[in-house]
Amino acid sequence: MMSDSDEETNPFPTVQPNLTNQELLQTHFLHSIQSTVTIRLLPSQGLSFQLWPAATSLVTLLDNHRLNPTNSPLSTVLSTLHTPPRILELGSGTGIVGIVAAATLGTNVTLTDLPHVVPNLKFNAEANAEAVGSNGGSVTFASLRWGHAADVEMIGGEFDVVIASDVVYHDHLYEPLIETLRLMLIKKEIVFVMAHMKRWKKESLFFKKARKYFFVDVLHVDAPCNGSRVGVIIYRFVGKKVVS
Ligand SMILES: C[S@@+](CC[C@H](N)C(=O)[O-])C[C@H]1O[C@@H](n2cnc3c(N)ncnc32)[C@H](O)[C@@H]1O
Repeated sequence: MMSDSDEETNPFPTVQPNLTNQELLQTHFLHSIQSTVTIRLLPSQGLSFQLWPAATSLVTLLDNHRLNPTNSPLSTVLSTLHTPPRILELGSGTGIVGIVAAATLGTNVTLTDLPHVVPNLKFNAEANAEAVGSNGGSVTFASLRWGHAADVEMIGGEFDVVIASDVVYHDHLYEPLIETLRLMLIKKEIVFVMAHMKRWKKESLFFKKARKYFFVDVLHVDAPCNGSRVGVIIYRFVGKKVVS
């Protein structure tokens, strides 16, 4: 664990002036299905349009899970569920994690984010429809604002797993995110799998608040890479009323 004296890093990648209005296409080859997924990034449009480290970790774990489920940290969640598991992603950003989940697990994934992010989710979902579909998956997308009960109600509850990557960063979003997780998980059998890279000490407050309502355990810890001092951690959240 990091100590109190740990360096706190700015989570927001700096946008280089020459990237203004530029769109980047990034390709990811998935070994397990021998297919390439291509994602459009729009770096000048803000953090929802960039690729975050925890997303890359979850993409690798999903690919490895398909190759070798026996040794996969995700098996703890996926092997006990409805097959194929119905998945909803919160704060999808570019949508890469949900798209890869749909392709590697051969399942339906609903990508969600703030309303202004949905057009890029739609673009990326459509750009990869063939790779996903040929592996038995499908991707849908919707607006889902954390803390808005009506958005959760609109989307319905036909999911087995909720996933997210790099969604704990601004402290004013802790409560709305926990509220959405409460609405989705409490009194249901739905499990939340979250990839997170710790950057700031204040994030311990999110986990403290979350542990009031959920059992939280660690499924996997990545080795630090790209000069980072910490690796991405994959957490599992289960609603307390389900277990007790
Ligand atoms: C740091 S980005 C991570 C994006 C993506 N999951 C990834 O790992 O590449 C956080 C995401 O949460 C979304 N988000 C922030 N506040 C939100 C809210 N109140 N409701 C829904 N999504 C939100 C952002 O739009 C953004 O896409």
